Amino acid sequence: PACVLAYSGGLDTSVILGWLQDEGWDVHCVYVDIGQPGEDKQAILQKAKDCGAASSRIVDVTEEMCRDFAFPVLKAGAKYESIYLLGTSIARPLISKVMLQVAREVGATAYAHGATGKGNDQCRFQLAAEALDPSVQMIAPWRIKAFRDKFPGRTELIAYCEEKGIPVKATSAKPYSSDENCLHVSYEAGDLEDLSVAGVDVVDFTMGVSPQEAPDKLEEVTIGFEHGVPVSINGTKLGAKDLVEKANELAGRNGVGRIDMVENRFVGMKSRGVYEAPGMTLLYEAHRMLEELTLDRDLMHLRDQLSPVVAEMVYYGLWYTPKLDALFAFTDKAQEPVTGEVTLGMYKGNLMARRRSSPNSLYDAEIASMEGGGSYDQDDATGFLRITGLPCRVQGTVTPRSY
Ligand code: ARG
Ligand code: SIN
Repeated sequence: PACVLAYSGGLDTSVILGWLQDEGWDVHCVYVDIGQPGEDKQAILQKAKDCGAASSRIVDVTEEMCRDFAFPVLKAGAKYESIYLLGTSIARPLISKVMLQVAREVGATAYAHGATGKGNDQCRFQLAAEALDPSVQMIAPWRIKAFRDKFPGRTELIAYCEEKGIPVKATSAKPYSSDENCLHVSYEAGDLEDLSVAGVDVVDFTMGVSPQEAPDKLEEVTIGFEHGVPVSINGTKLGAKDLVEKANELAGRNGVGRIDMVENRFVGMKSRGVYEAPGMTLLYEAHRMLEELTLDRDLMHLRDQLSPVVAEMVYYGLWYTPKLDALFAFTDKAQEPVTGEVTLGMYKGNLMARRRSSPNSLYDAEIASMEGGGSYDQDDATGFLRITGLPCRVQGTVTPRSY
């Protein structure tokens, strides 16, 4: 029988590639390219072939990830537990989609991955895959006791590679686990499990500098949006991937977008995570600034109630569901007026509003003005408060509060 394997070329998936073959599978390796920086992708392909893969390929979906996965989540203003920009969560359903496309092409019936049984990623891979192909057989070796017994630690993984002639990179083990794509890098586990150490002191960040190292000078950046989607930076129109990369470069050099949090995993445990997402942090802030100008008040407040719902669903991996489809349909409608330009100042990790403009701006200086005259009649507020205050006055009479 044949299976597809989500393959990164790292230690775990290299061992899984060998083990699946030991178990009698023909293994088709797929390296899903989502803008992971600094990897020799041809070498990874070659390694899979050398290790007996029935086929191996790289599928680049970076543009699709930014355009169809990250931007809809940005438009919804979704941040998990108010902070995490979901950079890993967003990528997982797309990886599953690619894996199933390849499975269909090569005639594989099963889909294997290297996520552990303790994390979120197994949920996202599996829930997405089953929604797309309910008949798919999932193989998660880390959830199989025989596999865990055979490989209780890194030593056994390396010994297996040596025995099988699988090349292992000479690099010593990193003191934490990381996951990268062009949206962000996440760091967890290992030395980061100790909450008495500052995450930023443990992690070797790759997307930008620390606020302390950033220039002692404010840098301005202008982001253009159309219907809630970022489309330009400093006046230059860019596609989704190029725009994210440009945003990473500018925000990264100003120390923007590092967080250290304790988050609630879908499987129930609390987990410490450190993240860097300079570009997306900038885009979220710019997007919010433009919404302030263009969104109707009551619509904005409703949207703000739904953002955490979207975030939770994306985090849990419930991407291909009618509920998320409906939430995104709401977002698309609500974001229609979010068109315009926002200029922010970036300074040592901070983002500051500078200027904003939109053809759909609801801001009316004439109405808002504290100067005399204008089109707002203060007399009207007397009646407004008489009616609004009616229940307060009745309560105050019937059940007086002490003060
Ligand atoms: N905690 C983050 C999330 O659940 C990051 C997960 C990182 N995954 C990994 N395989 N290292 O989205
Ligand atoms: C894993 O356990 O495979 C990585 C962490 C996570 O999925 O949350």
